[in-house]
Amino acid sequence: MLRPLKHEIYKASSLITTFIQHLPIPIDMDYGNDIGNGHDIGHGNGNGIGNYNGVGNGIGNRVGKGHEIGNGHGIGNGYVNGIGTSDVLGKGHGLGNGNGYVNYGNGKVNGAKEKKMRPMESELLREQGHIMVDFIADYYKNLEDSPKDFPVLSQVQPGYLRDMLPDSAPDHPESLKELLDDVSKKIMPGITHWQSPSYFAYYASSTSVAGFLGEMLNAGLSVVGFTWLTSPAATELEVIVLDWLAKLLQLPNDFHSTGNGGGVIQGTGCEAVLVVVLAARGRILKKVGKNSLPRLVVYATDQTHSSFRKACLISGIHEENIRLLKTDSSTNYGMPPESLEQAISSDLAKGFIPFFICATVGTTSSAAVDPLVPLGEIAKSYGIWMHVDAAYAGSACICPENRKYIDGIENADSFNINAHKWLFSNQTCSPLWIKDRYSLIDALKTNPEYLEYKVSKRDEVVNYKDWQISLSRRFRSLKLWMVLRLYGSENLKNFIRDHINLAKQFEDYVAQDSNFEIVTTRYFSLVCFRIAPIDGDEDQCNVQNRALIAAVNSTGNIFISHTALSGKFILRFAVGAPLTEEKHVTEAWQIIQKHASKLILNGHF
Ligand SMILES: Cc1ncc(COP(=O)(O)O)c(C=O)c1O
Repeated sequence: MLRPLKHEIYKASSLITTFIQHLPIPIDMDYGNDIGNGHDIGHGNGNGIGNYNGVGNGIGNRVGKGHEIGNGHGIGNGYVNGIGTSDVLGKGHGLGNGNGYVNYGNGKVNGAKEKKMRPMESELLREQGHIMVDFIADYYKNLEDSPKDFPVLSQVQPGYLRDMLPDSAPDHPESLKELLDDVSKKIMPGITHWQSPSYFAYYASSTSVAGFLGEMLNAGLSVVGFTWLTSPAATELEVIVLDWLAKLLQLPNDFHSTGNGGGVIQGTGCEAVLVVVLAARGRILKKVGKNSLPRLVVYATDQTHSSFRKACLISGIHEENIRLLKTDSSTNYGMPPESLEQAISSDLAKGFIPFFICATVGTTSSAAVDPLVPLGEIAKSYGIWMHVDAAYAGSACICPENRKYIDGIENADSFNINAHKWLFSNQTCSPLWIKDRYSLIDALKTNPEYLEYKVSKRDEVVNYKDWQISLSRRFRSLKLWMVLRLYGSENLKNFIRDHINLAKQFEDYVAQDSNFEIVTTRYFSLVCFRIAPIDGDEDQCNVQNRALIAAVNSTGNIFISHTALSGKFILRFAVGAPLTEEKHVTEAWQIIQKHASKLILNGHF
């Protein structure tokens, strides 16, 4: 089976290191001999006695032309930071086994030209890049092979790191080896392992080898694509890749770049909803006048992601004009269209101006689906902007069998998914499509003189700075392009189907145990469940479920999360980590069952 994160495939990443190293960047080759280019030379004890004054004694004497030698931290800890000048060289090399290591030479070596430390040295990148890739590949291997060494939910206490690290940054370079040792010993304990195959909390942060390589290439090129000019490929690839993805999702042509619409990759889902609220606000204020801002009202549900409220507040929408319609189990926590219709009529009667509906496909709590067909018809009939937030579940809609969940999208004005959640595109990647790109550009356009440029085919040029909040932007489409190309859409669909099947398997386990109950209808890879109440005692049931989640998460063997639905404390089991297989789901269920039984024995229910 092809897996998005089979660690062996990491070997492919060495190709990227090699590729970056071979980019046609002019490199000044005039630097001196390779002396001083060592890493980790001279580990051990001793005073570092040599002909240099004070080398290794940590006194910081200056030798030769002022290059600091022996600027260490006490006896035997001295660094040799450079070799001094040619007349100094040869007088001794710091005999002894000082703990210091030779970094880049700062001095002249036998008359050769100066060798300075450079931040992007290709050979160092090659060498250390390989070390880093090995480190990361080992991490993924160990996550699978030695899960006990990696508690899924970090078990540290707040502030744990302060005592483990120095009070200030080092004055002199340290070795990568020392740093990676610290990562293993000090950072890893404070990592919650989202990539563990036994991670079932929140929604996943899905990674893949292709996504990783895309990030790597992106970091290597490190271009800034705020206008077309600043890296034409960064802009043009994004336009094309989002058209590809729009086709996979079967979005109506209006969302493609060939008409008035198009796609843009936002940093996160929160940014996506913010920019469309701003676009919609601009459109309505043009019509009703800017003094009408206090009368603008928006609609969502009590299940809508909290980013919507934040987006509204940033956009100047009054808090009391944010209508969060109530949902319940009768609609499986989806937005009831009749509530929307009623709220709109009532607001109109009071002189408010309804201008925005935020519908969700796959809510954060329970993966509820708002019914886009009726909601879209209402939006259209009142001329209200409808946004569809499919941050989590949108990726699943590339599978034809799931496309039905976004039926009705033709009446939406904008739509976003988080490819970093479930399209194997590593943090962060939030594609957003919009039908009328000019409304977005009108809301966000800036024209400083220093960014002006002349170009042929001006009308065809996209400047993504005008589609987002920030100016600078990474080459965001690169990794999505690589994910789509290195897997192909059929594999991506199958990865997603695997997750959905694993969630179904978990759901079956729960359904077969009479101590538990499934709480909501499952559409995707999230199962909402809980220990069932006894004799209808909801309070006691909440206590039991809180105790259960605390117990299972404190084992470090799995990590699940919770939510509240209609006042009930609910457990969430979300499949989506790239290494999760059937055995992990089965083990997770056994752990949950075991702890539930212990609670029963201890009289918690
Ligand atoms: C439905 C929904 N919308 C928006 C978001 C926010 O996405 P981001 O964290 O990328 O800002 C989430 C995050 O879980 C979500 O589930």
